[in-house]
Amino acid sequence: MPTTAVIKKPKGKLGVLIVGINGAVATTFLAGVLAIRKGTAQPIGSLTQMGAIRLGKRTDRRSPLIKNFIPLAKLDDLVFGGWDIRDENCYDSAVHAGVLEGEHLDTVRKELQAIKPMKAVFDQFYVKRLKGSFVKKAKTKFELAEQIREDIRTFTAKNKLDRTIVIWCGSTEVYITPGAAHKSLKSFVEAMKKNHVDIAPSMLYAYAALMEGVPFANGAPNLTVDTPALMELAKKNGVAVSGKDFKTGQTLLKTVLAPMLKARLIGLSGWFSSNILGNRDGEVLDDPESFKTKEESKLSVLDGILQPELYPTLYKDFYHKVRINYYPPRGDNKESWDNIDIFGWMGYPMQIKVNFLCRDSILAAPIVLDLVLFMDLAQRAGMKGIQEWLSFYYKSPMSAPGLYPEHDLFIQLMKLKNTLRHLKGEELITHLGVEYYD
Ligand SMILES: NC(=O)c1ccc[n+]([C@@H]2O[C@H](COP(=O)([O-])OP(=O)(O)OC[C@H]3O[C@@H](n4cnc5c(N)ncnc54)[C@H](O)[C@@H]3O)[C@@H](O)[C@H]2O)c1
Repeated sequence: MPTTAVIKKPKGKLGVLIVGINGAVATTFLAGVLAIRKGTAQPIGSLTQMGAIRLGKRTDRRSPLIKNFIPLAKLDDLVFGGWDIRDENCYDSAVHAGVLEGEHLDTVRKELQAIKPMKAVFDQFYVKRLKGSFVKKAKTKFELAEQIREDIRTFTAKNKLDRTIVIWCGSTEVYITPGAAHKSLKSFVEAMKKNHVDIAPSMLYAYAALMEGVPFANGAPNLTVDTPALMELAKKNGVAVSGKDFKTGQTLLKTVLAPMLKARLIGLSGWFSSNILGNRDGEVLDDPESFKTKEESKLSVLDGILQPELYPTLYKDFYHKVRINYYPPRGDNKESWDNIDIFGWMGYPMQIKVNFLCRDSILAAPIVLDLVLFMDLAQRAGMKGIQEWLSFYYKSPMSAPGLYPEHDLFIQLMKLKNTLRHLKGEELITHLGVEYYD
């Protein structure tokens, strides 16, 4: 049954605090939003800005733009800030990232120059290939988290913000599995005070945001907010969270192609995915420990979609490999190859080859924008804890304990749009369609 949720109006300013604000994804996002505000660029790739949503029957011909259907913050009302380990303004960082051309950056030069990071919480143990020079100091991780909380409060007060959200666009940290330190909020706080090795910097940002009642989204595959301890905190404080790992290039294609194989019951014997990229993210992922975090995230999608336990003849034993190679000449322009060995009727083998020449940050920037606006919507609608309806944007979507995540891009999109319909009391769309043939 449709229900209309109470959604607070998006009045006043929305603060957007980005961890890793000097990175390629963050600066491409910032430059794009600033250019769109000026009318010199289009928000291509952004569902919140360009997407429409069908309401009611196909014959009703009601398909408003999402931004006209559901109350979202306006781009003019976003105020940007964040943290990074380099004391550099966002214009210089954007030039350094080499994603956008000078002619595009020049149109928003002054605005980007005005955005400067706050000192980061960083420890090279968790990102081996980076050295941080602009970092906070304290005796314990708990005190560092308190400093981040203070930053959030100061930023919110100084800019007279109505609401704030935090999004992690920082580097991929080393692989950490949930352990005793993450079991409960109590154990997490004790672990912070004892400088426990399983408490990574990203977890301190997430803790700080949730303590301040600020939604937290995680664009990298790090464990970060995906622990029982921080879920307990999110529920206790009524805060929305989502993650992990923006779904952009190769994995985006994988979550479209794999459902097609399953839909037609075509078997899979092997899927070899390789990538070359030459940006700082590529350099960080060249370290085996950070790569392991990314690898787990990229590998998880096929099993989730193909469900070998339901279709053992087709998917029980497929070989899946993902490689990422750091190759400086390409910069942010990643190239990926997928070799997919499939089999059909009577077991006859076939192959699919995919060669995607993409631009990593160009694909990620609209995702950052949509997540900022949808996370703010979720918070205003009182939706606390994991926002599974935002799985559409993530490679390793967070889901409730014991519930397998949904990876199929089009199921994810349907879930997202039905959530919006549900919030506004519109009929959910099932695609049954018998009513047209009565
Ligand atoms: N671009 C994509 O398509 C894509 C897709 C999925 C995930 N991601 C992830 O998004 C993240 C950002 O990617 P990118 O290409 O912008 O990388 P990047 O290296 O250009 O930017 C990361 C930024 O984070 C900063 N940083 C690292 N640790 C920090 C900390 N503890 N506190 C504050 N700042 C910190 C770095 O100094 C850097 O400026 C990476 O983790 C990447 O794996 C990117």
